Amino acid sequence: MGITIEPLTESFAARIGGVDLAGGVDDTDFAAIRRAFEEHGILIFHDQPLTDEEQIAFSERFGPLERTISASPTGGTPFARQSNIDIQSGGIIDKQDRRMEYQRGNYLWHADSTFKETPSLCSILSAREVPPVGGATEFVSTRAAHEGLPPERQAELDDLVVEHDLLHSRREIGFHFTAEEAAQTPPVRHPLVQINPVTGRKSLMIGAHASHIVGWPVETGRALLTELLDRATQPEAVYRHEWRTGDLIIWDNRSALHRATPYDTSKHRRLMQRTTISNPNAPRV
Ligand SMILES: [Fe+2]
Repeated sequence: MGITIEPLTESFAARIGGVDLAGGVDDTDFAAIRRAFEEHGILIFHDQPLTDEEQIAFSERFGPLERTISASPTGGTPFARQSNIDIQSGGIIDKQDRRMEYQRGNYLWHADSTFKETPSLCSILSAREVPPVGGATEFVSTRAAHEGLPPERQAELDDLVVEHDLLHSRREIGFHFTAEEAAQTPPVRHPLVQINPVTGRKSLMIGAHASHIVGWPVETGRALLTELLDRATQPEAVYRHEWRTGDLIIWDNRSALHRATPYDTSKHRRLMQRTTISNPNAPRV
């Protein structure tokens, strides 16, 4: 049986079947996956247990991988680890631990790495251990949000530039960086409206790291960003994924937002391995 692509909502997300990611994906199937990624924004695969090496090999076909910042327990590797399991001891990390506090930022709607000078093309998240209840991930499409705006509103957004800042999003949850950590992620600027180079369709680069609109009074810009975020994340626009071990999801950080949902971190283990593909061809401002 060949590769199958089953759309999951009217505007974004699809389930992909008929491939074995660990066993290697041939060029024809990879081209189909890549086309589906540009078209659907979020691709969901089931029953794809992967080793770290297999995940890296598959991820690198999309482009160069990011390295995790040094403050992370996986610092310097291609993995951003979403987990309550201590990487050294294998035991559960205390709720009050700074690593768990940092992960609370994932409960805010965001796209990964929009706070970086070179933003991300996509993230690939592999479910290695999942809790029996909770820990779902929710997704929305900022392409659908843009396309739902009246043409005159779309035109108003075309030339705007947004400043994205990791310190801004973490401040929202009361997390503070050391001066040394803060110096590693200075604010960056990106066009608010992103244009997919393959499909020509537009999306919005918003979410938790989006701090303000360049050249506007801060509060006015924040009000616009909040309005756009509220529109994009209306309950009926959300696709919610309940994870099973072996699931793998690829999401487009140019056209989708996601957020984590809670689980009992003191009782259940969760280990998700994320690789993040950077987008050196992203438009500059
Ligand atoms: Fe994320």
